[in-house]
Amino acid sequence: MKLLICGGAGYVGSHMVRYLTGQGHEAVVYDDLSTGHRQAVPREVAFVHGDIGDAARLARVFATQRFDAVIHFCAKSLVGESVGEPYAYYRNNVANTLVLLGAMRDADVDRLVFSSTAAVFGHPQAERIDESHPTAPINPYGQSKLMIEHVLADAAKAYGLRSVALRYFNAAGADPQGTIGEAHEPETHLIPNVLKAVLGQGAALNVFGDDYATRDGTCVRDYVHVNDLASAHLLAIEYLAGQPGAHRFNLGNGEGFSVREVIAAAERVTGKAVPHTIAPRRAGDPATLVASSALARAELGWEPRMVRLDDILASAWRWHREPAFG
Ligand code: UFG
Repeated sequence: MKLLICGGAGYVGSHMVRYLTGQGHEAVVYDDLSTGHRQAVPREVAFVHGDIGDAARLARVFATQRFDAVIHFCAKSLVGESVGEPYAYYRNNVANTLVLLGAMRDADVDRLVFSSTAAVFGHPQAERIDESHPTAPINPYGQSKLMIEHVLADAAKAYGLRSVALRYFNAAGADPQGTIGEAHEPETHLIPNVLKAVLGQGAALNVFGDDYATRDGTCVRDYVHVNDLASAHLLAIEYLAGQPGAHRFNLGNGEGFSVREVIAAAERVTGKAVPHTIAPRRAGDPATLVASSALARAELGWEPRMVRLDDILASAWRWHREPAFG
């Protein structure tokens, strides 16, 4: 298959490109490099520098090449930032996605896999969140992703667009080959910050709150390896070949780890102490977020491979010790 990977220079997108080409598919990356890295895209993969809000540029890409499907990773994705800058989030994640969807329609490309998020659920009402859990985002980021899920449902009915929205829980780790990994600026995610603290890059890790109603008082999250996310996207595209409609799947390992447990795992993997201090709670953090991915396993045949927290951390450690870019 030939696939257009919007946001293919970003963290999850670049792992997707590696995975696809490794499986014998052709990828073309479309990215504005606002948060992604040109070096994250292999030289032999075609790269278009463009913004998904640029209808003319997208039209040219679709006019000159025929794609079997689009995978759409482009987004602003920081919860805290979205609260302070909602217009930027709705413009980028909603309005620009509509431009991409319009370009796909004009070009008769009718399969899409869309990066959604656990943030569509808001405060969880169940220990494991499955697809029947109510959606009630508590920030503009989650809201913007949910809006597009609704658009995709309407587009399936009106235009016959086939789509899968994949709600990632906590994307983590790096490709074990060590050539790509997580490189955000600023970095807000737990695992990179834990490893940066080990490496003495910046101040000690802030643990945001130790008074949550969890087993050790710190927040519990479901960490899913970025290459396992990539495999789910390819399965989703294959699934759409036989399934019209708009579909939604939750992607996680189904097991939660607290911030303290992540710190302990990092100490085992690195053999070094993680300097950390307890800080006040971070606004908008639910105590626990753990996925049920039973539907993705049953419907897509998805089977995450790197499920042990220590292995996920070891892959991230390999990257953060010697990042190739960032
Ligand atoms: N944390 C710290 N210190 C840090 C960074 C994070 O204690 O330096 C804590 C957070 O408070 C949270 C946990 O570690 O309890 C995980 O935080 P991350 O920032 O790594 O991830 P989030 O769970 O906040 O975010 C993830 C995705 C978002 C998605 C969100 C859904 O990255 O895209 O889940 O709530 F929106």
